[in-house]
Amino acid sequence: MTRRLALAGLALAILAGMAVAQELTYVGAQKCVVCHKSEAQGRQFPIWEGTKHPKSCEALTSPKAAEAAKAMGVDRPADDPRCLKCHAPLAAEAPEFKTEGVSCETCHGPGSAYRKLNIMKDRAESAKNGLILYGSPEAIKAQCMTCHENPHGIAFDFASAWDKIKHPVPKK
Ligand code: HEC
Ligand code: HEC
Ligand code: HEC
Ligand code: HEC
Repeated sequence: MTRRLALAGLALAILAGMAVAQELTYVGAQKCVVCHKSEAQGRQFPIWEGTKHPKSCEALTSPKAAEAAKAMGVDRPADDPRCLKCHAPLAAEAPEFKTEGVSCETCHGPGSAYRKLNIMKDRAESAKNGLILYGSPEAIKAQCMTCHENPHGIAFDFASAWDKIKHPVPKK
């Protein structure tokens, strides 16, 4: 009896652990806009919109994509995981945000828990709630290279690429 209870307790603990892990879900870039669009905040959302990252999924249906697909032996680029993994990285885990392409949460982690204001204001709390922080140019570059390591034979210059997409909070 006690043993059965203990086992039931263990099962519950495992389930609870899973619930915590499952709590972190993707919410989509539209959930970040409200707090990350003004001049004072650093215009992260409009800056991202002006880069190629939000168009990277769409790029898989262009005539150029058909060529790139042929070169890689892929028939249906817009549905093939071999293309989606870089061009629509949320496709597998959060298909509803597939068309966001390389989105905020691709680089910063699923936002369901950290996006609340009281958490966002606190760096350590944000990290505990799933926000991915980098902290050094080397760490940032390593993240870029997960997709930019010579794809399609195009070289990647980290410094100039980062300059094109960076979106800092202005110094007060
Ligand atoms: C309710 C408002 C709010 C929402 C919604 C929100 N944020 Fe934030 N976020 C903030 C505030 C406030 C800060 C702190 C800014 C500062 O340092 O002045 C912040 C900071 C950040 C930082 C920098 C953390 C650091 O210390 O380096 C990142 C990255 C970030 N947010 C990403 C996101 C993403 C991605 C989303 C959407 C999933 C999001 N935020 C949604 C308010 C918000
Ligand atoms: C390892 C990651 C990765 C994979 C896998 C990948 N791509 Fe790309 N792709 C990129 C990156 C990064 C760029 C942007 C390169 C640059 O301009 O610096 C790009 C650029 C492109 C472009 C040019 C877009 C434009 O704006 O002109 C097309 C088209 C394209 N890829 C199609 C494909 C297709 C089709 C597949 C699958 C067969 C594929 N890619 C697989 C990372 C990848
Ligand atoms: C999940 C994959 C992925 C990651 C991670 C990623 N990128 Fe990209 N990036 C792409 C794809 C795919 C494209 C091509 C989009 C298109 O052309 O439609 C691209 C395009 C770009 C472009 C436009 C190329 C040009 O000059 O025309 C720049 C700049 C860029 N990325 C910078 C970065 C930087 C800097 C990082 C790291 C902080 C980074 N990317 C991380 C996938 C990624
Ligand atoms: C291609 C990857 C990538 C994408 C896409 C991206 N970010 Fe970032 N973001 C970064 C990196 C890398 C940093 C720098 C972190 C550091 O300096 O440690 C950063 C920094 C930030 C900061 C903190 C700036 C500061 O000065 O402290 C905020 C806020 C932020 N991002 C929000 C967003 C939001 C909101 C989106 C979508 C609208 C977004 N990011 C899209 C990679 C990305």
